[in-house]
Amino acid sequence: MMDAFTRREGELYCEDVPVSELVARWGTPAYVYSRTALRTRLQDLSDAFGSHPHLIAYSVKANGNLAVLRTLADMGAGADIVSGGELYRARLAGIPAQRILFSGVGKTLPELAAALREGIYAFNVESEGELRSLSELAQAMGKTAPIAFRINPNIDTPTPHAYTRTGHAATKFGVPIHDAMRLYRIASELPGIAVRGIDMHLGSQILAIEPYHVALEQALEMVARLKEEGHELEFLDLGGGLGISYSGGEGIPADLLADSIVPSLRETGLRLILEPGRYIVGHAGILLTRVLYVKEGGGKRFVVTDAGMNDLLRPSHYAGYHAVEPILSRDREHARVDVVGPICETGDFLALDREIERVEPGELLAVMTAGAYGFSMSSTYNQRPRPVEILVDGDRAELVRRRETIQDLVAAELDLTPEEKQLGAHKGIL
Ligand code: LLP
Repeated sequence: MMDAFTRREGELYCEDVPVSELVARWGTPAYVYSRTALRTRLQDLSDAFGSHPHLIAYSVKANGNLAVLRTLADMGAGADIVSGGELYRARLAGIPAQRILFSGVGKTLPELAAALREGIYAFNVESEGELRSLSELAQAMGKTAPIAFRINPNIDTPTPHAYTRTGHAATKFGVPIHDAMRLYRIASELPGIAVRGIDMHLGSQILAIEPYHVALEQALEMVARLKEEGHELEFLDLGGGLGISYSGGEGIPADLLADSIVPSLRETGLRLILEPGRYIVGHAGILLTRVLYVKEGGGKRFVVTDAGMNDLLRPSHYAGYHAVEPILSRDREHARVDVVGPICETGDFLALDREIERVEPGELLAVMTAGAYGFSMSSTYNQRPRPVEILVDGDRAELVRRRETIQDLVAAELDLTPEEKQLGAHKGIL
């Protein structure tokens, strides 16, 4: 696997740029993405599926930065979206509507209407109610909505955390597999609806091939039954969820996954859709943060950083592991520490009970493998402006999202006077 983040004499680089230079220009906390890594991951995945007709509909929720989306759009990626906001971003970044699929259990009428107006490739419908709303809306707009049902296959997929399992019956996702035939019959008779495909999504951070294989078998069985009833399908969407390694390994082997899917799919002639998010962007990004203080208490050593759970929620929310390393690695003692943020919550940490180099206040740390569900899940909790985002390509670096200001954080609540806009600056707050 191509690694975008390497060390030269102990110093961390993103491609050909020392990350310390990025901090000197744009400060911390900062997300840094490698354009080459984004491209390589997308290309490798696409190559694995070879000549079988397929569309990689990148899951925008993993990282919706416009520069990231543009990079993928330029290579022919589509988008898996779950909101009107993601539709807007995807279209702004130049992803053609015909490469967009819309998933999600709670699509609103304005969101459905926007997607109909754009002319997206398919709606992955998750309930009978949604199907009927879409039919009425499409009729009123004089459009036809291409659809697939998202089938809940009732597979209990092993993922590292219960919150990222979506494929078993007791989650809110999709329609029950035993009800799917009835729904397809209804759909084929409703005005404004065109049945096009079948969709499944099993969960996120799946490292085994087996669940995809089981899901495929189920899907193909259903495709055969649908065909018997006269439904002509065009695509099979197997969702996202392809897992990566957070500790330096390889993650799910895409070529083996392809080998286990493509032969039986080929017989059906169906186009394959995949909706990977993490697989494409996870390895392509890191979060840079500065150590503010180091303190001891209760038998512990705390490294307090200027990034917290509002910047990277995964450690706190999913007990997600991210390697934490000083950007200048030296030959020195190690210490067992909790790396914690400035947020007023005990759950605010980036790493717990972790043995790392004995770092000092002022040093810079990199939180690795943070390209997916990093910035996209960040918030302004505790009134903290969100991090900058930087994109590196070879020896060039570009700011692709400026730092939010404290004025940005109040802008939607007030019509600020010019004096108030200056207030933060005048009071010396920033
Ligand atoms: N398609 C659908 C319908 C999804 O719900 C998701 C993710 C994906 C595709 C993309 O999954 P991926 O390939 O990235 O695993 N915030 C969590 C992950 C939540 C995933 C939600 N749905 C995390 O940080 O681990």
